[in-house]
Amino acid sequence: MGDAPTADRSVKPPLILGIETSCDETSAALVEGDGRILGHVIHSQDLHAVYGGVVPELAARAHLRRLDEVVDEALRQSGRTLDEVEALAVTAGPGLIGALLVGVSWAKAVAYSLGRPLIPIHHMEAHLFAPSLEDPDAEPPFVALLVSGGHTLLLHAAAWGEYSLLGQTRDDAAGEAFDKVAKLLDLSYPGGPAIQALAEMGDPDKYRLPRPMLRRNQKAGDPDFYDFSFSGLKTATANLVGDLEEKGSLEEERQHVAASFQDAAVDVLASKTLRAVEELRCRRVLLGGGVSANRRLKGEIGMRLGQDGQLFVASPRLSMDNGAMVARAALFRLSRGEVGSFDVSADANLPFPNMVPRSRPA
Ligand code: KG4
Ligand code: ZN
Repeated sequence: MGDAPTADRSVKPPLILGIETSCDETSAALVEGDGRILGHVIHSQDLHAVYGGVVPELAARAHLRRLDEVVDEALRQSGRTLDEVEALAVTAGPGLIGALLVGVSWAKAVAYSLGRPLIPIHHMEAHLFAPSLEDPDAEPPFVALLVSGGHTLLLHAAAWGEYSLLGQTRDDAAGEAFDKVAKLLDLSYPGGPAIQALAEMGDPDKYRLPRPMLRRNQKAGDPDFYDFSFSGLKTATANLVGDLEEKGSLEEERQHVAASFQDAAVDVLASKTLRAVEELRCRRVLLGGGVSANRRLKGEIGMRLGQDGQLFVASPRLSMDNGAMVARAALFRLSRGEVGSFDVSADANLPFPNMVPRSRPA
């Protein structure tokens, strides 16, 4: 693969402790300056499953209970001590405010007491860095599709820290749609993996579900050319489930409903990503966020990209929320001297850093 041409590799390799508590994963990682993961613990809170979704107050309390032991275990794996950590990185937003505050307060207190810099990280930018932890070639330029439980973003990264926004969801996030449809089908939370497993037994052509905001006659420059909408697809799926229930045939049709829904969601995500690939003439694509673990999504985008394209996706463990991607993003921010002050706070709606709307010639 050769040398990874990042500016941040030229500085003395620091040891970063990355903390992630934005939703329902409590995670900590020790990452070295070359991106090597020395210790990494991801604790997924299973207490939400019975509620069919994340309960914010319970998530915050569970982070508080677990964070110390998650960090201790990551340090133990790394063979290093907290004293050797040269900077603390923490997800400052976006996410659930109570959950974020646990990680931010913890990192702030420890950074202050150790006299080390504190680096606040944007959760979705961290997802952008995840594939580079495993593949040194996963560097910009690339078209990135970031798909999680809270966000759906299509962007172009010309370089690290140089992002232009192409499109985003106007209502539900892609992961949210998977989770809601899973609930309709009585599947467990999180819904994405459950839908994927059920869909693999079904026929995706059995039901034709709508592809919101995807029409053949759209042109580059149209306001909805790159945007997404998933709430209509969720409603159409809910109506289909209602009809089948009425007919008494839902039980034997569930896998076909899951497959048809997944097919519609993947078709929209893949089509819009490929539009960007064609328009920007950039055949390098990065997928990030929890939904990027979806096999059908990876397969479809890989197939449409073809042999001359490159697709970067983290392994499922690094696609989900984790501390290693937070530390990796911090290595970049640190290389630019961007450290936070101790009055930094969690922000549930933190804007994506260095993101500009795409300018196009008039
Ligand atoms: O990035 P992530 O771990 O947390 C957030 O930042 O939200 O993403 C979680 C989302 C959930 O909606 C979950 O259902 C979805 O990612 N997800 C999947 C798959 N694995 C996780 N969606 C579709 N297929 C999957 N295999
Ligand atoms: Zn995430």
